[in-house]
Formats: sequence, structure tokens, C-alpha cells
Amino acid sequence: MSQQSQKAYEEFLPLLRIDPTKIFFDVSPVEIWLEIGFGGGEHMLEQLARNPDVAILGCEPFMNGVAKLLAHLSPQDYARVRVWHEDVRYLLEFSPPSYFSKIFILFPDPWPKKRHQQRRLITTDFITKLLPTLKKGAFLHMASDDSSYVEQIQEVLYNHPFFTLCEGPSSADPLTWGERPEGWPKTRYEQKAVFQGKKCAYMIFQTQGDFS
Ligand SMILES: C[S@@+](CC[C@H](N)C(=O)[O-])C[C@H]1O[C@@H](n2cnc3c(N)ncnc32)[C@H](O)[C@@H]1O
Repeated sequence: MSQQSQKAYEEFLPLLRIDPTKIFFDVSPVEIWLEIGFGGGEHMLEQLARNPDVAILGCEPFMNGVAKLLAHLSPQDYARVRVWHEDVRYLLEFSPPSYFSKIFILFPDPWPKKRHQQRRLITTDFITKLLPTLKKGAFLHMASDDSSYVEQIQEVLYNHPFFTLCEGPSSADPLTWGERPEGWPKTRYEQKAVFQGKKCAYMIFQTQGDFS
């Protein structure tokens, strides 16, 4: 970790980290978004720059990633940024209901080996816990370069009673995967995958029906 990142981590994390006993944001943004597993924060920083009325809660257990985000954050954005520096599954236990208008889960750890696949984040149980934190009509953006993970996401979400697919490939076969949707900032993991000649699947879901 660079000295600058180390300093930012020590100085700003105490100011910006979520306290489960308090309201998350002191300001009243137009929308609140959640990014799960933001890595080095590149996508989150880009979304903050493009959407000045939105507040974003970033969730990332990896220390270097959090330090990197904090080192690149502008002081003028502190009020609309919060960090949960732990597993997202604990955050969901105390997140307010109908809170997020958008959730990003971009390139979750693929765990491609069969014996590790039970470690994957996206399961029916996880989505059941995530759903009540989403507003009605909220969006869930997901991406992966791993075809067996894409298949798992499709199994969990394509026929889900409370999600409708807005955009996404028809199958887990990379040959059916299209281009990145317009306006979708690239992530660091994605750049590496594309550099290695891999294809990526991009999916956008919207909540539907009465799930509250
Ligand atoms: C493959 S990386 C992708 C990072 C970033 N989204 C990107 O596309 O560059 C997956 C990220 O998810 C984070 N992660 C893994 N399990 C998580 C969990 N249970 N809760 C929150 N983040 C998690 C990891 O620390 C890692 O940074």
C-alpha cells in the first residue's frame, strides 16, 4: 500500500465508516446506491463524479481497496460516501428496508473450481436477504466473466418473482454475451479480463411486484 493510501485509510475511514447504530447518511440525497465489493473503488469514484445528487455506500472487506478509494475521494464528496469495511452479509442485517435505488455487484469473486463454488456470494439465500433493502423499481447491476457464475446468477435471478431482467444475455454461453451497456463504467477487474481476451456478461435487473 502506498504511503498516501495508508494515510487516507487511517485518517478518513473513521469518518466515513458505517456505524450500525446510527443513520448512514446525514445528508438527504436524491438516491442512495450500494456497491458490493468495490475493489479499488474505480467504478464508485466514476459514479460519484457522474451523479452529484446520489450518495453511495461502498462495501469492501479488502483493506488495500478501501485505502485506495479513500485516497482518491474528494473532500467535497465525504457527505455522500460511506464505507462498510466488512462482509456485505452483516450490513444487510441492519440496513433500512426499501433503502437502495441501485445496487452494483460487479465481478464478484468467481470461485471457478467446483469445490469452491459454495463460497460464491450470489445465491438464492443472499438475494432473499438483499431484496428488502431495495426500493420498489430499484435496479441491480451485475457482471461476471465466468460462465458457470453467469449460469448461477441466471438460475437465481432470471425467473425470480420479484426481479425482471432489463438487459442481459440469453444464456451462460459467452458467445451470446453482448457489449457493455452504454454509460457503464469499466472496473479494474473487467479491464484485466478483457486484456486477457475474456468476454464479460452484463446484467441489469429491476425489482417488480410487492415484495415488502
Ligand atoms: C473480483 S473482485 C472485483 C472488484 C471490483 N468490483 C472490480 O470489478 O474491479 C471481487 C471483490 O469483492 C469483494 N468481496 C468478496 N466477498 C465479499 C463480501 N462478502 N462482501 C463484500 N465484498 C466482498 C472482494 O474483496 C473483492 O474486492
